[in-house]
Amino acid sequence: MPKYLVTGAAGFIGRSIAAALLARGDSVRGVDSFITGKHANLEGLQAMEFLEGDLADPAVCARACAGVDIVFHQAALASVPRSVADPVTTNRMCVDATLNVLVAAKDAGVRRVVYAGSSSVYGDTPTLPKREQMLPHPITPYAVAKLAGEHYLAAFNCVYGLQTVTLRYFNVFGPYQDPTSHYSGVLAIFCRKMLAGQQPTIYGDGEQSRDFTYIDNVVHANLLAASAPADKVAGRMMNLATGSAVTLNQTFQILCGLTGYQGAPAYAEARSGDIKHSLADIGLARELLGYTPSVDFAEGLRRTVEWYRLAG
Ligand code: UD1
Repeated sequence: MPKYLVTGAAGFIGRSIAAALLARGDSVRGVDSFITGKHANLEGLQAMEFLEGDLADPAVCARACAGVDIVFHQAALASVPRSVADPVTTNRMCVDATLNVLVAAKDAGVRRVVYAGSSSVYGDTPTLPKREQMLPHPITPYAVAKLAGEHYLAAFNCVYGLQTVTLRYFNVFGPYQDPTSHYSGVLAIFCRKMLAGQQPTIYGDGEQSRDFTYIDNVVHANLLAASAPADKVAGRMMNLATGSAVTLNQTFQILCGLTGYQGAPAYAEARSGDIKHSLADIGLARELLGYTPSVDFAEGLRRTVEWYRLAG
Protein backbone atom coordinates (compact mmCIF):
# COMPACT_ATOMS: atom_id res chain seq x y z
CA MET A 1 0.00 0.00 0.00
CA PRO A 2 1.38 3.47 -0.82
CA LYS A 3 2.31 5.44 2.26
CA TYR A 4 1.76 8.83 0.65
CA LEU A 5 -1.00 10.32 -1.49
CA VAL A 6 -0.28 13.39 -3.62
CA THR A 7 -3.36 15.11 -5.01
CA GLY A 8 -2.77 17.16 -8.14
CA ALA A 9 0.14 14.83 -8.93
CA ALA A 10 0.15 15.86 -12.61
CA GLY A 11 0.41 19.51 -11.65
CA PHE A 12 3.56 21.53 -11.13
CA ILE A 13 3.85 21.34 -7.34
CA GLY A 14 2.26 17.91 -6.91
CA ARG A 15 4.59 16.25 -9.41
CA SER A 16 7.58 17.85 -7.72
CA ILE A 17 6.59 16.51 -4.29
CA ALA A 18 5.89 13.06 -5.76
CA ALA A 19 9.30 13.03 -7.48
CA ALA A 20 11.06 13.86 -4.20
CA LEU A 21 9.20 11.09 -2.34
CA LEU A 22 10.00 8.53 -5.04
CA ALA A 23 13.65 9.63 -5.08
CA ARG A 24 14.01 8.74 -1.43
CA GLY A 25 12.35 5.36 -2.01
CA ASP A 26 8.88 6.01 -0.66
CA SER A 27 5.75 4.45 -2.10
CA VAL A 28 3.42 7.04 -3.57
CA ARG A 29 -0.06 7.22 -5.04
CA GLY A 30 -0.98 10.20 -7.19
CA VAL A 31 -4.39 11.43 -8.23
CA ASP A 32 -5.22 14.03 -10.87
CA SER A 33 -8.18 14.91 -13.08
CA PHE A 34 -6.03 16.45 -15.87
CA ILE A 35 -8.29 19.50 -15.85
CA THR A 36 -5.12 21.57 -15.43
CA GLY A 37 -2.59 18.78 -14.77
CA LYS A 38 -0.52 17.52 -17.71
CA HIS A 39 0.32 13.96 -18.77
CA ALA A 40 3.84 15.18 -19.59
CA ASN A 41 4.36 16.05 -15.92
CA LEU A 42 4.10 12.36 -15.03
CA GLU A 43 7.24 11.55 -17.01
CA GLY A 44 9.81 10.09 -14.66
CA LEU A 45 7.13 9.19 -12.10
CA GLN A 46 6.37 5.69 -13.42
CA ALA A 47 7.00 4.19 -9.97
CA MET A 48 3.99 6.12 -8.66
CA GLU A 49 0.62 4.37 -8.51
CA PHE A 50 -1.67 6.72 -10.46
CA LEU A 51 -5.38 7.26 -10.25
CA GLU A 52 -7.23 9.51 -12.70
CA GLY A 53 -10.24 11.24 -11.22
CA ASP A 54 -11.87 14.42 -9.98
CA LEU A 55 -11.74 15.07 -6.23
CA ALA A 56 -15.12 16.77 -6.44
CA ASP A 57 -16.36 13.15 -6.60
CA PRO A 58 -16.28 11.64 -3.07
CA ALA A 59 -15.82 8.12 -4.50
CA VAL A 60 -12.55 9.21 -6.13
CA CYS A 61 -11.36 10.63 -2.81
CA ALA A 62 -12.21 7.38 -1.01
CA ARG A 63 -10.21 5.33 -3.53
CA ALA A 64 -7.33 7.79 -3.38
CA CYS A 65 -7.08 7.79 0.43
CA ALA A 66 -7.47 4.04 1.01
CA GLY A 67 -4.53 2.66 2.97
CA VAL A 68 -2.59 5.93 2.92
CA ASP A 69 -0.74 7.38 5.92
CA ILE A 70 -0.07 10.95 4.75
CA VAL A 71 -1.78 13.14 2.14
CA PHE A 72 -0.17 16.11 0.36
CA HIS A 73 -3.24 17.96 -0.90
CA GLN A 74 -1.97 20.07 -3.81
CA ALA A 75 -4.89 19.77 -6.22
CA ALA A 76 -6.66 23.09 -6.84
CA LEU A 77 -7.69 25.44 -9.61
CA ALA A 78 -4.79 27.84 -9.08
CA SER A 79 -5.17 31.38 -10.41
CA VAL A 80 -6.73 34.53 -9.09
CA PRO A 81 -8.04 35.79 -12.47
CA ARG A 82 -9.57 32.41 -13.30
CA SER A 83 -11.54 32.60 -10.04
CA VAL A 84 -12.72 36.09 -10.94
CA ALA A 85 -13.93 34.77 -14.31
CA ASP A 86 -15.54 31.62 -12.88
CA PRO A 87 -15.92 31.57 -9.08
CA VAL A 88 -18.22 28.54 -9.04
CA THR A 89 -15.65 26.24 -10.69
CA THR A 90 -12.93 27.53 -8.36
CA ASN A 91 -15.16 26.77 -5.40
CA ARG A 92 -15.87 23.24 -6.65
CA MET A 93 -12.23 22.42 -7.34
CA CYS A 94 -10.83 24.08 -4.23
CA VAL A 95 -13.50 23.97 -1.49
CA ASP A 96 -15.64 20.94 -2.42
CA ALA A 97 -12.57 18.91 -3.35
CA THR A 98 -10.75 19.79 -0.13
CA LEU A 99 -13.73 18.89 2.03
CA ASN A 100 -14.12 15.60 0.15
CA VAL A 101 -10.42 14.80 0.63
CA LEU A 102 -10.67 15.52 4.36
CA VAL A 103 -13.75 13.34 4.82
CA ALA A 104 -12.12 10.50 2.88
CA ALA A 105 -8.87 10.92 4.82
CA LYS A 106 -10.69 10.77 8.16
CA ASP A 107 -12.72 7.72 7.09
CA ALA A 108 -9.62 5.92 5.78
CA GLY A 109 -7.63 6.53 8.97
CA VAL A 110 -5.08 8.84 7.30
CA ARG A 111 -2.76 10.27 9.96
CA ARG A 112 -1.88 13.66 8.48
CA VAL A 113 -2.98 15.99 5.66
CA VAL A 114 -0.58 18.70 4.47
CA TYR A 115 -2.43 21.39 2.51
CA ALA A 116 -1.36 23.90 -0.13
CA GLY A 117 -2.60 27.19 1.28
CA SER A 118 -2.11 30.54 -0.41
CA SER A 119 -0.67 33.95 0.42
CA SER A 120 -3.70 35.43 -1.35
CA VAL A 121 -5.69 35.03 1.90
CA TYR A 122 -3.88 38.08 3.34
CA GLY A 123 -5.47 40.30 0.71
CA ASP A 124 -4.24 43.76 -0.14
CA THR A 125 -3.63 45.06 3.37
CA PRO A 126 -0.62 47.39 3.61
CA THR A 127 1.25 45.82 6.53
CA LEU A 128 4.37 43.91 5.53
CA PRO A 129 5.69 41.32 6.06
CA LYS A 130 2.60 39.14 6.34
CA ARG A 131 2.43 37.25 9.62
CA GLU A 132 0.14 34.36 10.44
CA GLN A 133 -1.59 36.10 13.33
CA MET A 134 -2.88 38.84 11.01
CA LEU A 135 -6.56 38.65 10.22
CA PRO A 136 -7.10 37.19 6.74
CA HIS A 137 -8.71 39.56 4.27
CA PRO A 138 -9.50 37.63 1.09
CA ILE A 139 -10.49 39.91 -1.80
CA THR A 140 -10.94 37.34 -4.59
CA PRO A 141 -12.93 34.11 -4.94
CA TYR A 142 -9.63 32.20 -5.14
CA ALA A 143 -8.48 33.59 -1.80
CA VAL A 144 -11.85 32.81 -0.20
CA ALA A 145 -11.70 29.24 -1.50
CA LYS A 146 -8.14 28.70 -0.26
CA LEU A 147 -9.03 30.17 3.13
CA ALA A 148 -12.11 27.96 3.42
CA GLY A 149 -9.84 24.96 2.87
CA GLU A 150 -7.56 26.11 5.69
CA HIS A 151 -10.48 26.45 8.05
CA TYR A 152 -11.76 23.00 7.12
CA LEU A 153 -8.34 21.55 7.92
CA ALA A 154 -8.21 23.22 11.32
CA ALA A 155 -11.77 22.07 12.08
CA PHE A 156 -10.99 18.48 11.12
CA ASN A 157 -8.03 18.59 13.45
CA CYS A 158 -10.24 19.89 16.28
CA VAL A 159 -13.22 17.62 15.95
CA TYR A 160 -11.82 14.42 14.40
CA GLY A 161 -8.19 14.50 15.55
CA LEU A 162 -6.91 14.37 11.95
CA GLN A 163 -3.43 15.92 11.98
CA THR A 164 -3.52 18.85 9.56
CA VAL A 165 -0.88 21.34 8.44
CA THR A 166 -1.45 24.31 6.12
CA LEU A 167 1.49 25.82 4.27
CA ARG A 168 0.57 29.22 2.86
CA TYR A 169 2.53 29.28 -0.40
CA PHE A 170 3.82 32.60 -1.69
CA ASN A 171 4.03 32.66 -5.53
CA VAL A 172 5.74 29.35 -6.23
CA PHE A 173 7.76 29.03 -9.44
CA GLY A 174 10.16 26.63 -11.10
CA PRO A 175 10.48 23.74 -13.57
CA TYR A 176 7.24 22.09 -14.74
CA GLN A 177 5.06 25.14 -14.10
CA ASP A 178 2.72 25.40 -17.09
CA PRO A 179 3.68 28.47 -19.15
CA THR A 180 1.01 28.07 -21.82
CA SER A 181 -2.15 29.38 -20.18
CA HIS A 182 -3.29 32.95 -19.82
CA TYR A 183 -3.83 31.93 -16.17
CA SER A 184 -0.27 30.63 -15.66
CA GLY A 185 2.06 32.09 -13.04
CA VAL A 186 3.83 35.21 -14.24
CA LEU A 187 7.37 33.80 -14.18
CA ALA A 188 6.42 30.77 -16.28
CA ILE A 189 4.77 33.05 -18.84
CA PHE A 190 7.69 35.48 -18.91
CA CYS A 191 10.36 32.75 -19.21
CA ARG A 192 8.62 31.12 -22.14
CA LYS A 193 7.89 34.35 -23.95
CA MET A 194 11.25 36.00 -23.44
CA LEU A 195 13.19 32.86 -24.44
CA ALA A 196 11.14 32.87 -27.65
CA GLY A 197 11.90 36.56 -28.21
CA GLN A 198 8.28 37.57 -27.57
CA GLN A 199 7.30 40.67 -25.63
CA PRO A 200 5.83 39.97 -22.19
CA THR A 201 3.00 42.07 -20.79
CA ILE A 202 3.15 43.61 -17.32
CA TYR A 203 -0.27 44.31 -15.81
CA GLY A 204 -0.18 47.61 -13.92
CA ASP A 205 2.98 49.69 -13.46
CA GLY A 206 5.23 46.72 -12.66
CA GLU A 207 5.98 48.07 -9.19
CA GLN A 208 3.91 45.32 -7.54
CA SER A 209 6.18 42.95 -5.62
CA ARG A 210 6.08 39.26 -4.77
CA ASP A 211 7.91 36.89 -2.47
CA PHE A 212 8.57 34.45 -5.32
CA THR A 213 9.40 31.03 -3.88
CA TYR A 214 11.42 28.42 -5.77
CA ILE A 215 9.83 24.99 -5.97
CA ASP A 216 12.66 23.12 -4.16
CA ASN A 217 11.95 25.16 -1.03
CA VAL A 218 8.28 24.20 -1.23
CA VAL A 219 9.04 20.50 -1.67
CA HIS A 220 11.47 20.60 1.24
CA ALA A 221 8.94 22.29 3.53
CA ASN A 222 6.25 19.75 2.61
CA LEU A 223 8.54 16.89 3.59
CA LEU A 224 9.30 18.65 6.87
CA ALA A 225 5.59 19.25 7.49
CA ALA A 226 4.87 15.56 6.96
CA SER A 227 7.43 14.44 9.53
CA ALA A 228 7.35 17.21 12.17
CA PRO A 229 6.06 16.17 15.60
CA ALA A 230 2.26 16.37 15.86
CA ASP A 231 2.39 18.39 19.08
CA LYS A 232 4.22 21.12 17.15
CA VAL A 233 2.33 21.24 13.86
CA ALA A 234 -1.07 19.51 14.03
CA GLY A 235 -3.86 22.00 13.35
CA ARG A 236 -1.34 24.74 12.50
CA MET A 237 -0.95 27.07 9.53
CA MET A 238 2.25 28.85 8.46
CA ASN A 239 3.75 30.91 5.67
CA LEU A 240 5.99 29.23 3.14
CA ALA A 241 8.17 31.67 1.22
CA THR A 242 11.69 33.03 1.05
CA GLY A 243 11.12 36.19 3.11
CA SER A 244 12.23 38.65 0.43
CA ALA A 245 10.35 40.35 -2.36
CA VAL A 246 11.14 41.70 -5.83
CA THR A 247 9.05 43.87 -8.14
CA LEU A 248 7.92 42.73 -11.57
CA ASN A 249 10.01 45.46 -13.17
CA GLN A 250 13.13 44.18 -11.38
CA THR A 251 12.24 40.62 -12.33
CA PHE A 252 11.86 41.60 -15.96
CA GLN A 253 15.37 43.12 -15.91
CA ILE A 254 16.90 39.98 -14.39
CA LEU A 255 15.10 37.86 -16.98
CA CYS A 256 16.48 40.02 -19.80
CA GLY A 257 19.97 39.05 -18.60
CA LEU A 258 19.12 35.36 -18.27
CA THR A 259 17.17 34.94 -21.49
CA GLY A 260 18.94 37.40 -23.77
CA TYR A 261 15.64 39.16 -24.50
CA GLN A 262 16.16 42.69 -25.73
CA GLY A 263 13.39 45.23 -25.65
CA ALA A 264 10.86 46.70 -23.27
CA PRO A 265 7.84 44.96 -21.79
CA ALA A 266 4.33 45.97 -22.79
CA TYR A 267 2.26 47.54 -20.02
CA ALA A 268 -1.47 46.92 -19.69
CA GLU A 269 -4.23 47.73 -17.21
CA ALA A 270 -3.80 46.17 -13.73
CA ARG A 271 -5.73 42.96 -13.17
CA SER A 272 -8.88 42.99 -11.08
CA GLY A 273 -8.23 41.53 -7.63
CA ASP A 274 -4.48 42.00 -7.96
CA ILE A 275 -2.46 42.59 -4.81
CA LYS A 276 0.17 45.33 -4.71
CA HIS A 277 2.78 43.89 -2.37
CA SER A 278 3.28 40.41 -0.96
CA LEU A 279 6.08 39.50 1.41
CA ALA A 280 6.17 36.81 4.09
CA ASP A 281 7.58 36.55 7.55
CA ILE A 282 8.90 32.97 7.56
CA GLY A 283 9.75 32.83 11.25
CA LEU A 284 6.92 30.45 12.15
CA ALA A 285 7.93 27.80 9.57
CA ARG A 286 11.48 28.19 10.81
CA GLU A 287 10.35 27.60 14.38
CA LEU A 288 7.85 24.79 13.80
CA LEU A 289 9.51 22.93 10.92
CA GLY A 290 13.15 23.99 11.08
CA TYR A 291 12.59 25.37 7.55
CA THR A 292 15.08 27.63 5.82
CA PRO A 293 14.91 28.39 2.09
CA SER A 294 17.84 26.66 0.42
CA VAL A 295 17.45 28.22 -3.05
CA ASP A 296 17.14 31.99 -3.28
CA PHE A 297 15.21 33.88 -5.95
CA ALA A 298 18.17 34.61 -8.24
CA GLU A 299 19.40 31.02 -8.27
CA GLY A 300 15.85 29.68 -8.62
CA LEU A 301 15.19 31.95 -11.58
CA ARG A 302 18.46 30.90 -13.22
CA ARG A 303 17.54 27.20 -12.87
CA THR A 304 14.02 27.88 -14.10
CA VAL A 305 15.17 29.68 -17.25
CA GLU A 306 17.59 26.82 -17.99
CA TRP A 307 14.78 24.31 -17.60
CA TYR A 308 12.45 26.18 -19.99
CA ARG A 309 15.31 26.60 -22.43
CA LEU A 310 15.87 22.82 -22.52
CA ALA A 311 12.15 22.01 -22.47
CA GLY A 312 11.73 24.17 -25.57
C1 UD1 B 1 -1.66 34.58 -6.35
C2 UD1 B 1 -1.08 34.34 -4.95
C3 UD1 B 1 -0.17 33.14 -4.97
C4 UD1 B 1 -0.87 31.95 -5.56
C5 UD1 B 1 -1.36 32.28 -6.95
C6 UD1 B 1 -2.14 31.12 -7.55
C7 UD1 B 1 -0.94 36.60 -4.03
C8 UD1 B 1 -0.04 37.66 -3.53
N1 UD1 B 1 -0.34 35.52 -4.52
O1 UD1 B 1 -0.61 34.92 -7.16
O2 UD1 B 1 0.28 32.83 -3.66
O3 UD1 B 1 0.04 30.90 -5.64
O4 UD1 B 1 -2.23 33.39 -6.86
O5 UD1 B 1 -2.45 31.41 -8.86
O6 UD1 B 1 -2.15 36.67 -3.97
N2 UD1 B 1 1.25 39.42 -14.27
C9 UD1 B 1 1.73 40.17 -15.30
N3 UD1 B 1 1.79 39.61 -16.54
C10 UD1 B 1 1.38 38.34 -16.80
C11 UD1 B 1 0.88 37.58 -15.72
C12 UD1 B 1 0.82 38.14 -14.46
O7 UD1 B 1 2.11 41.34 -15.13
O8 UD1 B 1 1.47 37.88 -17.96
C13 UD1 B 1 1.23 40.02 -12.91
C14 UD1 B 1 -0.06 39.92 -12.16
O9 UD1 B 1 -0.95 40.94 -12.47
C15 UD1 B 1 0.44 39.98 -10.72
C16 UD1 B 1 1.81 39.30 -10.78
O10 UD1 B 1 2.18 39.32 -12.14
O11 UD1 B 1 0.61 41.31 -10.30
C17 UD1 B 1 1.77 37.86 -10.31
O12 UD1 B 1 0.70 37.20 -10.96
P1 UD1 B 1 0.48 35.64 -10.86
O13 UD1 B 1 1.74 34.93 -11.19
O14 UD1 B 1 -0.75 35.29 -11.60
O15 UD1 B 1 0.26 35.38 -9.33
P2 UD1 B 1 -0.58 36.17 -8.15
O16 UD1 B 1 -1.93 36.55 -8.65
O17 UD1 B 1 0.31 37.17 -7.52
